[in-house]
Amino acid sequence: MALLDIRNVNIVYKMEGHDILACDDVNITMETQDSLGIVGESGSGKSTLAMGILGLLPTNITSIAGEIIFKGTNLIGLSREDYAKLRWKELSAVFQKSMNSLSPVHKVGKQMAAIYRVHMPSASDSECRKMGYNLFEKVGLSSRVYDAYPHELSGGMAQRVAIALSLMFHPALVILDEATTALDVITEGQILRELVTLQEKEKMASIVITHNVSVVATTCKKVVVMYAGRIVESGWTDQVLVTPKHPYTQGLLKSFPAFHGERQSLRGIPGSLPDLSMRIPGCVFAPRCPHAVDRCHKERPSDILLGEHWRVACFLVEGDEKQ
Ligand SMILES: Nc1ncnc2c1ncn2[C@@H]1O[C@H](COP(=O)(O)OP(=O)(O)O)[C@@H](O)[C@H]1O
Ligand SMILES: [Mg+2]
Repeated sequence: MALLDIRNVNIVYKMEGHDILACDDVNITMETQDSLGIVGESGSGKSTLAMGILGLLPTNITSIAGEIIFKGTNLIGLSREDYAKLRWKELSAVFQKSMNSLSPVHKVGKQMAAIYRVHMPSASDSECRKMGYNLFEKVGLSSRVYDAYPHELSGGMAQRVAIALSLMFHPALVILDEATTALDVITEGQILRELVTLQEKEKMASIVITHNVSVVATTCKKVVVMYAGRIVESGWTDQVLVTPKHPYTQGLLKSFPAFHGERQSLRGIPGSLPDLSMRIPGCVFAPRCPHAVDRCHKERPSDILLGEHWRVACFLVEGDEKQ
């Protein structure tokens, strides 16, 4: 059984007068200990999908359809109480500024202990401290951080604390949404390398969400490329990011010249995301695609299978078609 099976998920923001289709028929399967990157430019629906998995979408303005099967349970429609049982223990998350959710007036350790006691109500102060030191060691932090206030930490230290918190109960899956984006490149690189080691040691699965392909290249074995709410290409990182087949993936890689180690000008992809409140009959990337033909504007491409796990939703790629 897969650890996470996302099937035909649609997520809509219900706005006044129009609906925004932020995730459009998303399908993803993850096995235990998989490391999966979700990459795509800002506005492509990555965070919406993460919030959908975590049960954190604002229920008054969103609707979600499909199935998100995590360890055999469909998370869609799960009650708040049942989500609370999963959160931290089975499923945890690190966001760009996770530490903002901590109170500035209490020491880091005190707040860590409070989270620990959600699932371990009888833990003593010294047990909590031991737990904290142990976690800090895993993420390369000094035990002194336990008695520091959040504002005393640098950005890198704060994100390390957030990662430590996410590991507290050995979750089966950690979702990192732009978790290192705000850091300088050196700190980001250090933390990403440590994450890979941690993931192997802790035997957990991870989803790393980022707009930066080089982050996926350093941390993830598999990758999903999202554009305008749809998955356009997915597969093993060393295939998809080395010999990308979808014109969007190709464009994305050209926007990150450092990934190929070449010094070339930043080319990017001309144009911008389509209006997600309009129904797009064809390929979502067609309006920006340098190779688009008539059919691309009219018909939605189904996935072409290029090998085990490698799928591309593009009419111009040859291979076996699979719905
Ligand atoms: N709270 C919200 N209300 C309305 N629209 C939203 C909300 N959050 C995100 N969106 C829209 O959903 C789309 C996907 O956004 P998001 O999931 O944040 O993308 P990403 O994380 O890839 O940058 C965008 O068009 C964005 O404007
Ligand atoms: Mg986002």
